[in-house]
Amino acid sequence: MNSNLFAHKPLALLIEEMKGENRLRRVLGPVTLTSLGVGAIIGTGIFVLTGVAAHDKTGPALILSFVVAGMASIFAALCYSEFASMVPVAGSAYTYAYATLGELFAWIIGWDLILEYAVASATVAHGWSHYFQDFVSIIGFKVPHAFGNAPFDFNPATGLLSATGTILDFPAIVIAAIITTILVIGIRESAGFNAVMVILKLAIVLFVIVVGAFYVNPANWHPFAPFGLTGISFFGKTLFGQTGLGGEPLGMLAGAAIIFFAYIGFDSVSTHAEEARNPKRDVPIGIITSLVLCTILYILVSGILTGMVPYNKLNIDAPVSDAFKQVGLPWAQFIISLGAVAGITSVLLVMMLSQPRIFLAMARDGLLPTSFFGAIHEKFRTPWKSTILTGLFVATLAAFLPLRILADLVNIGTLLAFVIVCAAVLIMRKTNPDAERPFRAPFVPFVPIFGIGFCLLLMFSLPPENWLRLFIWLLIGFAIYFGYGRNHSVMARMRAEGK
Ligand code: ALA
Repeated sequence: MNSNLFAHKPLALLIEEMKGENRLRRVLGPVTLTSLGVGAIIGTGIFVLTGVAAHDKTGPALILSFVVAGMASIFAALCYSEFASMVPVAGSAYTYAYATLGELFAWIIGWDLILEYAVASATVAHGWSHYFQDFVSIIGFKVPHAFGNAPFDFNPATGLLSATGTILDFPAIVIAAIITTILVIGIRESAGFNAVMVILKLAIVLFVIVVGAFYVNPANWHPFAPFGLTGISFFGKTLFGQTGLGGEPLGMLAGAAIIFFAYIGFDSVSTHAEEARNPKRDVPIGIITSLVLCTILYILVSGILTGMVPYNKLNIDAPVSDAFKQVGLPWAQFIISLGAVAGITSVLLVMMLSQPRIFLAMARDGLLPTSFFGAIHEKFRTPWKSTILTGLFVATLAAFLPLRILADLVNIGTLLAFVIVCAAVLIMRKTNPDAERPFRAPFVPFVPIFGIGFCLLLMFSLPPENWLRLFIWLLIGFAIYFGYGRNHSVMARMRAEGK
């Protein structure tokens, strides 16, 4: 039994499987893959979370928070790229773990990736809804209060839930339904829609940088780090830095742990490997180019934002558009909120595109029921059943759960996935030293080791209750694995048949 739990999926078998039937269409080139990366990256993180992070945890040191979170992401991205070029199939980190750490770890990471993609989509749908409501209010329309938000919210200062007086977040349900429909129809159409959104949001981000630069007052950058440069706690006990009223860590690293959300998404490029025309070359290009581009833009935007407005006057809900209002450019608020709605839409599109592809990989391995999660639509060639399931899941979470709980859960889950991928690169170099690696992460073992170190540092800089939520999520995952996957997995069946 134990050997079954840690059974590895051989690299050769993975590559052989790619030749079979029931594959996705190969239509994506390097520019489209990069655009899918940028599409998944720039969204709620930069447009919304920068405000909370700078105001409550970092001050102008937010710029450094973006550098630290960017470094954690770049180390992980190099590791993702090595794997994506070796095993260009749909499952991303899940598949890499199956090939290196065995079935149980593969299941853990597959289950964990639901946090990164589906729960992140719910978080993003929430953010979309609020920017959308902001935008339509500028043109004189108001969504009824009862249908504008989740029915309760989490207060980090008290650690308690409180009623918001609403019933559900209706715009979040509508956007989830629209994106699901687009995704069922097909990848080529989705990539085209994404490209338009990406161009629009890049234009808005450049607008913020170029126009905002004229309104920077360097005095706003002092004091640079009012909450200090650390902010690390260990299961609720502050190790370095200041502590907030609710016991949460404050400081530059605590801010980095929050705005890490802004970087999530580059790895989704690896889930499209199976649809790439030349995955071995183009997937690493897509991952690294999109991440480096966004890192540079983020550092510039955070510098401009904290230079335009004193950090303690930054707005929490819509910090970027509000900063322009504060410096006397209210017309810019309209343009920026429009760009934010477009930007956040493309994040949703890519995240909700990625989740069914992870399910597909898990179903092919027998860890999830194949008839449902492995079903490809005859005409559209998309994993339509699991796409619709993802849409329902995202709409339900976004309608009823508060953004704060969802966002923190996404960050800790994604950081765990990055730790496992970095570790898997180290292991694979030992176990399969001669495997073909069209892209090799440089400076191994340092890059994966730094990746693991930076991600753990950020995990420990998150408010401590997130660890508890992560453990509960993983326990539910174990129950499903031991109740279903372990007995149905293809590897288990092959072993039983003595293959
Ligand atoms: N990086 C994505 C965003 O900020 C998830 O919305």
